Amino acid sequence: MYRLIFTLLLLSFNLFSNNKLVVYMSPTCGCCTYWVKHMEENGFSVETVKLNNVDSIKMINKISPQISSCHTGIIDGYFVEGHVPAKDVKKMLSLRPKIRGLAVPGMPAGSNVPGMETKNTPAKYDVLSIEFNGINKIWSQYK
Ligand code: CU
Ligand code: CU
Repeated sequence: MYRLIFTLLLLSFNLFSNNKLVVYMSPTCGCCTYWVKHMEENGFSVETVKLNNVDSIKMINKISPQISSCHTGIIDGYFVEGHVPAKDVKKMLSLRPKIRGLAVPGMPAGSNVPGMETKNTPAKYDVLSIEFNGINKIWSQYK
């Protein structure tokens, strides 16, 4: 009986801690809102925090200008910088690699960029895994 309760507690804790994606964004950012919608449509529960100065959240999380984008998401100890597709975030959460987070630097525009679907043609872009040693790797590529 005790073991069952313990298992249930662990399970509910995991569900909780895995679930919420907190997105820091400027109140006037349209593409951020579209990305939030993309994440929600893919099963994420999202809480948005509107900030006039989004740079402060990048500073706190040590996200350098080279990899930064419009919004910063935080989930389960990882950051998600910019227009990262939901499936890459899901893969990270299931594999739980020892990385700081994922990033799509800048703002590529194309039919295959969630929240930046401004053209009919797909964009060529990389999702980077941001490593603790400062040498970032390619997590996935889109074209
Ligand atoms: Cu954007
Ligand atoms: Cu954004």
